[in-house]
Amino acid sequence: MSADVVHESNHRRTFAIISHPDAGKTTLTEKFLLYSGAVQEAGAVHAREGRRSSRSDWMEIEQQRGISISSTVLQFPYHGHTINLLDTPGHRDFSEDTYRVLAAVDAVVMVLDAAKGIESQTLKLFQVCRSRNLPVLTFLNKYDRPGREPLELLDEIESQINLRPTPVTWPVGSGDEFRGVVDRRTGQYTKFTRTARGASAALEEDIDLHEAAKEGGRAWQHAMDELGLLEAVGADVDLPSFLAGESTPVFIGSALTNFGVRKLLDAVVELAPAPAPRTTVGGTPQPLENAFSAFVFKVQANMDPSHRDRIAFARICSGTFERGMSVTNARTGRDMTTKYATTAFGADRETVDLAYPGDVVGLVNASGVLIGDTLYGAGYEGAAVEYPQLPRFAPEVFARARPMDNGKAKQFRKGLEQLDEEGVVQVLRDPDMGDTENVLAAVGQLQFEVFAHRLGSEFGAPTEIVSAPYQAIRLTDKQSSERLRQIGGIRILTRGDGALVALFENKYRLQRLMSDEPELTLEPILASGEAH
Ligand code: G4P
Repeated sequence: MSADVVHESNHRRTFAIISHPDAGKTTLTEKFLLYSGAVQEAGAVHAREGRRSSRSDWMEIEQQRGISISSTVLQFPYHGHTINLLDTPGHRDFSEDTYRVLAAVDAVVMVLDAAKGIESQTLKLFQVCRSRNLPVLTFLNKYDRPGREPLELLDEIESQINLRPTPVTWPVGSGDEFRGVVDRRTGQYTKFTRTARGASAALEEDIDLHEAAKEGGRAWQHAMDELGLLEAVGADVDLPSFLAGESTPVFIGSALTNFGVRKLLDAVVELAPAPAPRTTVGGTPQPLENAFSAFVFKVQANMDPSHRDRIAFARICSGTFERGMSVTNARTGRDMTTKYATTAFGADRETVDLAYPGDVVGLVNASGVLIGDTLYGAGYEGAAVEYPQLPRFAPEVFARARPMDNGKAKQFRKGLEQLDEEGVVQVLRDPDMGDTENVLAAVGQLQFEVFAHRLGSEFGAPTEIVSAPYQAIRLTDKQSSERLRQIGGIRILTRGDGALVALFENKYRLQRLMSDEPELTLEPILASGEAH
């Protein structure tokens, strides 16, 4: 049994793709599925998404804005391995969601548009990823179009996110002049052949580098010079520093025409790590072969309006998951059965009967389960296992939600509670006041839009969002809060997890207060760029 678990874990690769919107994440995902044989023809993912959007109201926002908010999990086989690809929202406003997904993966593929490099809006997202020290594979996409100098892109990766790039493939020419790539590991040259939108696998012809270089011309001269330079600085793939999240193997390609996709997917299997023992609250690594344990990184209600249910997505850390087994929630001590467990392929659900470390199971109607909860199966008696909580990010924008229809107070309250639990926004409450006196806190404005949209469409409580005049937030305690209440321009509220927070209308007042009354508890909340 435990030999099974170790064998299965060794053959799993669980990763996420992060990119700036439009850099090509969806296209690349689709091409991964094409190369794995999970779909017969590229376009299938888009088609599924179309269907999903038409089934689910709140996803209209995603369509209108061309962003993806709801993460999904795709599982497909490749080269004898099981690949779990977790989707991340591609917008900085959802950095906190991204961070939670990153807590559930073992590696990341970072996609950059070669014409744009690292865009300022996504820098934060990449830094969040960097702060977790996850192994990152980099894909410089859209090489079929004129792009920036690859050496310049490498510099940008190093200076902006502090990741040392180690190119695996290197381009010969670019844009209309793009000829192909040289694989620096093997010295083979792979010739680029344009395919019509890449509906099927690309024709990839491998030629000996020196033979190919005889073709000559400026593009070749340039590429050979750069290859010599890379050789001289020794920018070769270095497994230990890649696994430590300090260096990143770089691949060149064009997801649209499928070029370079196979090499990247092969690298996910060959270079990215298999699930490793996860550290528990006590600081001890949890052996993979122990009994079932998992942590919840995402909770989502109403993914499909025809079901109207609530799914908790859990990443398995040890043991075997068997559908129907009873699991215990470490936080509440409550047991629950897992009769309805699913994997989600896009939004299409499939029942999952068995799952192993690295896999994600969606537990349907897991009431009372919150983000960050640990679930474990029989076999832990007394010495229950618990994984660390996922950090909350420091909110940067604040607002108030007001129900537009007073007759819908009940629906409003229910929506507020549910969406707070999902982490769509943080709902801060004043225990002495009603629900309408809430303050919403978020990393970015788009979170408020999603929140209001979902309250209206899923809970039937049309809601107005008005901005609130706060500039800073700090964690405090009961004793300090009594003093803070006496000062104007400060509000003391309670967060969903029970923590007391102080909101300041003026950040200079906060600074003054910290220097004048250093005995007050005013702790900063983790800024999104420094999560660990
Ligand atoms: P995202 O998920 O990161 O937001 O990006 P997505 O894959 O949706 O790609 C964004 C746009 O970039 C799409 O064009 C897509 O076709 C294009 N694209 C992706 N990879 C490549 C590539 O390697 N080369 C080139 N030239 N284009 C690429 P669109 O016009 O927005 O959509 P569509 O009409 O082509 O579907």
